[in-house]
Amino acid sequence: MSPKTFSFPTKTRFGAGTLAELPDSLASLGIRRPLVVTDSGLAKTDAFRRLTTTLGDSGRGREWFVFDGVHPNPIEDDVRIPAALFREHGCDGVIAIGGGSPLDAGKAARLLAKHPTFPLAKFYDQPVDWSGLAPLIAIPTTAGTGSEVGRSSVITLDATRRKAVLFHPELLAKLVILDPELTTGLPPKLTAATGADALTHCIESFTCPDFHPMCDGIALEGIRLVVEALPRAFRDGSDLDARGRMLVAAAMGAVAFQKDLGAVHSLAHPLSTLCGMHHGLANALCLDAVMNFNARRKPGLYRRVGIACGLDIVRCTNGEADCQTVGFVSQFLADLGLNSKLREHGVRSDQLDELASLAWEDPCHRTNAIPVTQADLRDLYQECW
Ligand SMILES: NC(=O)c1ccc[n+]([C@@H]2O[C@H](COP(=O)([O-])OP(=O)(O)OC[C@H]3O[C@@H](n4cnc5c(N)ncnc54)[C@H](O)[C@@H]3O)[C@@H](O)[C@H]2O)c1
Ligand SMILES: [Zn+2]
Repeated sequence: MSPKTFSFPTKTRFGAGTLAELPDSLASLGIRRPLVVTDSGLAKTDAFRRLTTTLGDSGRGREWFVFDGVHPNPIEDDVRIPAALFREHGCDGVIAIGGGSPLDAGKAARLLAKHPTFPLAKFYDQPVDWSGLAPLIAIPTTAGTGSEVGRSSVITLDATRRKAVLFHPELLAKLVILDPELTTGLPPKLTAATGADALTHCIESFTCPDFHPMCDGIALEGIRLVVEALPRAFRDGSDLDARGRMLVAAAMGAVAFQKDLGAVHSLAHPLSTLCGMHHGLANALCLDAVMNFNARRKPGLYRRVGIACGLDIVRCTNGEADCQTVGFVSQFLADLGLNSKLREHGVRSDQLDELASLAWEDPCHRTNAIPVTQADLRDLYQECW
């Protein structure tokens, strides 16, 4: 077994109303002039209004600044522009608030704030000094990506138009605020799709073949939380208990996937870059096909996932346990309105070859429970289409 790093380092404040602690947290981190990074959709919400009210006015005039232009599935400009604003306003910290898109952009903007002449691509493949980045406070308003506790940032690069993962421990936030009051306004469709992302993180990380029992335990408990809380958050967005459980489950999914992910994520990434699909929805539409594919080749793979889902399958054969688990996950997603086909979301059949070739280049499938070929990925797209 090769040596490994187990790392669960992020300080996280959890609970309704914890946003109110932000001014004290900024002070204790020595941040006087934060740049807030978000997207235009969130900027119109009550969650964002709560943030601006909390930041308020220091008495010396407003000393915080906002970039609210992050795209869903962020592109390089979403990193470059806030980095330039950061320097222009003499900022000394970043508050990233929103879903995974603003969190990823805010994380990465600190790199170009420190190294303004570097192209972002340099951070992927060349030796660069990552130390001394501005401190980050991450505040998720969706419960899905878990980007707030992750050390990665997913940005679509100009040159390749592919999602590329910046990965470095220095990207981690100094503080995460999980305040369920900020997620009550998330509409049911986005609640479902982002929650499906969290579920996919837990299932893919648990079943990827690496040795990481700590992540495995977290993934299984994350699955249990999603199964219990997501339907409640979907039905009643104001259910603070369900919203809180989903925020924790999403963070757990991302902690778990430091172990790794699998083929669902390789299929999902090109659906976002080529077809503009939301990341969580893309995962949801591919999840059961990949589970069936894996289960056929590794019977019993999903037994403990099924038990975490609450299924009574301890005495079932491997085949029955997998079958019941995949059936449960399919029905769970269908009950959240996530049982449509790719063609219903504008994906054309003549795009499937290109999608398969992009999915093949995506690294996530290399840690899938079962090795996959490009032809397998093409077949899986066909099945989901
Ligand atoms: N870094 C990581 O570890 C990681 C992991 C998984 C996914 N991702 C990335 O995260 C991105 C997806 O993030 P996402 O699924 O959170 O979606 P998102 O950030 O793109 O947000 C989707 C929409 O939800 C809206 N929204 C967010 N919070 C809201 C709220 N409380 N009320 C109303 N509307 C709200 C936003 O304005 C936006 O229109 C993708 O780019 C994906 O690649 C990153
Ligand atoms: Zn994901």
